[in-house]
Amino acid sequence: MGLREVVVTGAFGFVGRAVAKRLLDRGFDVRTLTNHAGREDPFRGRVTAAPLDFRDPKALARSMRGAATLFNSFWIRFPRRGRTYEGAVERSRILFEAARSAGVRRIVHTSIANPDPDSPLGYYRGKAQVEVALRESGVSHAILRPTFFFGEGDVLLNNIGWLVRRSPVFLVPGSGRYRVQPVFVGDYADLAVRLLEEDGDAVLDAVGPEVFAFDDLVRAIASAIGRRVALLRVPPPLALAATGLVGLAVRDVVLTADEVRGLRGDLLVSKGEPTCPTRLTDWLRENAAHVGRRYASELGRHFDGAFV
Ligand SMILES: NC(=O)c1ccc[n+]([C@@H]2O[C@H](COP(=O)([O-])OP(=O)(O)OC[C@H]3O[C@@H](n4cnc5c(N)ncnc54)[C@H](OP(=O)(O)O)[C@@H]3O)[C@@H](O)[C@H]2O)c1
Repeated sequence: MGLREVVVTGAFGFVGRAVAKRLLDRGFDVRTLTNHAGREDPFRGRVTAAPLDFRDPKALARSMRGAATLFNSFWIRFPRRGRTYEGAVERSRILFEAARSAGVRRIVHTSIANPDPDSPLGYYRGKAQVEVALRESGVSHAILRPTFFFGEGDVLLNNIGWLVRRSPVFLVPGSGRYRVQPVFVGDYADLAVRLLEEDGDAVLDAVGPEVFAFDDLVRAIASAIGRRVALLRVPPPLALAATGLVGLAVRDVVLTADEVRGLRGDLLVSKGEPTCPTRLTDWLRENAAHVGRRYASELGRHFDGAFV
């Protein structure tokens, strides 16, 4: 078995890309499972790709054979076009079983802060179920629970910037005083690589050092990119109706009702200590020129083709 061989889901995407980059920098051999092998390849052929096709667990296992570890980020942001959270849980189970049968000895898994098997929110409930499936797989594992990411290629923070660049008014659902604790994707990759190299089961929130009220986060983004924006607190259904109209224009789902509920329920903040060092405030100072220049489409990235 190649101890330096790692399988990374979605290495041409967002989180997987950051992790694959760190691994390559540290001399690991990286393969990826993805249904977007045709995407722009930032690694110039150094990462070989196989399909992330759950219909053929044996092929999935074959594509992991010989690797010591798996970094997993597979999930869906919201149900649509035949994709469901239940389907994503089942596919995660298939992936873990395929990894086990391929001889993978350790899995570092991307969950979410505050997963809850009893949550009314399918995202958080499903993530809790996937954690159970991972524990039941019997493979040594580390579970990382991020809140929400910032970094090159992110969707949510970028799209707040995109809205702020285009509109003098920003509709805030509800009070805006619910909190968020963003985490830098590069720090997340460092943490993931460290945990890939360690032994022993672990569960850890992956969170940065700053906690913002949501409205302060929007102000921080606006100020960093040099825009003045008036924040208007509105009932959540109105904010969702407005983002729905934006969604029609950009052909995307900008924000879901469950995401608003998660935000207002303070689920994007950790109850533990920060585990990642980069402050969003510092990152914005360096990177604001790029934030929100182009809209980042979730449907464009992840909802083409069939759910295989
Ligand atoms: N973005 C955030 O702020 C945030 C916050 C907390 C937790 N997370 C978690 O972080 C992980 C990675 O998120 P990400 O945004 O960076 O995603 P990503 O890396 O672009 O995608 C992760 C993997 O899931 C697959 N995937 C994603 N959406 C899919 C869909 N709708 N249908 C089928 N396959 C799909 C991708 O397939 P391809 O390789 O084919 O693209 C890729 O292999 C997820 O587990 C997510 O729950 C994200």
